Amino acid sequence: MISVFFKTYGCQANVADSAGIASFLEGLGCVQVESEGLADLIIINTCAIREKAEQKLYSYLGELLEFKEKLPYLKIGIIGCVASYRKDEMLKRFEYISFVSGARDERTTFLTYLADVIVQLQTEKQLFAHNFDRTGDVTLTQLAILGRDVKLAMSKRSLVLPARLLKEGAQAAMGGTLAPEGEIKRAFINITTGCNNYCTFCIVPFTRGREASYPLEDIVMRVSHEVVAGAKEITLIGQNVNSYTCPQTAVRFAALLEAVALIPGSFWVRYVSPHPKDMTRDVLEVMAKYPDKLCAWCHFPLQSGSSRVLELMNRTYTKEEYLRQVDLIRAVVPGVALSTDIIVGFPGETHEEFLETRDVAQQVGFDMAYSFVYSRRKYTKAFSMGDTCSPEEKAARLADLQEVLRAGSLATAQRYIGKNLRVLVEKRTTNGKLLARSSGNHRVVFDGDGSLVGTFIEVCITEAGQSELRGEIIVAPTAISKEHGRAA
Ligand code: 5AD
Ligand code: SF4
Repeated sequence: MISVFFKTYGCQANVADSAGIASFLEGLGCVQVESEGLADLIIINTCAIREKAEQKLYSYLGELLEFKEKLPYLKIGIIGCVASYRKDEMLKRFEYISFVSGARDERTTFLTYLADVIVQLQTEKQLFAHNFDRTGDVTLTQLAILGRDVKLAMSKRSLVLPARLLKEGAQAAMGGTLAPEGEIKRAFINITTGCNNYCTFCIVPFTRGREASYPLEDIVMRVSHEVVAGAKEITLIGQNVNSYTCPQTAVRFAALLEAVALIPGSFWVRYVSPHPKDMTRDVLEVMAKYPDKLCAWCHFPLQSGSSRVLELMNRTYTKEEYLRQVDLIRAVVPGVALSTDIIVGFPGETHEEFLETRDVAQQVGFDMAYSFVYSRRKYTKAFSMGDTCSPEEKAARLADLQEVLRAGSLATAQRYIGKNLRVLVEKRTTNGKLLARSSGNHRVVFDGDGSLVGTFIEVCITEAGQSELRGEIIVAPTAISKEHGRAA
């Protein structure tokens, strides 16, 4: 049996991809393991969004050398966004890497290659067990046959997947399920891939390619399948989910959300990420219509609060338009929670423009926010704008903004005190408490029995910190009200 360890960096699209590949490998009889030292195959799913993410990858690859030296047949593969644009460099720099396949490479081709890797690993593992290969020679010979650049290797060979595996491969491309021991089952389903927006700071259109949507029928079938298999939380994923257009029927995101909401069962649906320029009233109305299924949460990336910087970023909305969209979301979806992404120190951002961002953050009062310093990325349009803000200035702006964001999160969280929230119990924490999540994506902690993991229950919020709410169970799971999970 071949054991596989996944190291996944980056966004939920990467989580979905790793989960899909993991379930494909399980279909081949592989098992997932919790640490590198137990693995025959290590798959690293990489993120290129900021330089820091890439640096983390390089130091991790350095750490893996030790495992490779101990286990000569160990294979280490790199997939995802860094693999997309630094393939040759990775192969040259890290000789012990067995294969590299980019995020935009054809998925079935990659899985066909991977199926072959598993067969080879089985042979090499057996040889090693019989003491034939203490030196690792077989590993090297086999690697030469297979080829380390997946695309190149596959173009020279004519491997095909058997029909059953082909079907599983197509499913794997759409994402997969995560269910760590003792936790609820979560499904991550890609509804679109790639991105056509070309925000000037962002490398994603270059690493993941042009935008494409999966057919609505396939997505609905996939969600139904995951729900029947026990998934309690479904996350629909795309770089820009609300530009979804079914390739067969041309229906848009609102229709997809409604179709998913109509699937019978007890589960919650989230989606990441919408683009403010594409948020339309019909999407929000569907959210408001199915509150028991569609979470009252919207991740709504601001990026900057200055209209001039937004234009330089090619975000195609102004500060005022963003704020109007926020008003619309709050007006149509009662009790909705909002989170966001913000970048500070974009090339040319003046101190006054930064203060505008700070001001918008204060005005909106986000429940949660991710904030980043601008990182200059090769291939992007902003690359040629230089990196005009000094690291010290960027750090100061980030610290200042984060203080505002923390205060905003605390203030929004405190509004829940004394209110009842419907929550989904995710797991028991190490200190014996139950950890749940609200429809608005707030972490909620309270005392309760471990048997409640995976159920929806009502909790009265008694305390609120900036990163979690604390409360008490008020309704036994057998008497769950059909009420949705908003603050009462
Ligand atoms: N530098 C800093 N942050 C970035 N993001 C994307 N590209 C960059 C970059 N070059 C942020 C954006 C995006 C989030 C996923 O990462 O805020 O929404
Ligand atoms: Fe990047 Fe912009 Fe596309 Fe998001 S919408 S993935 S930030 S290019």
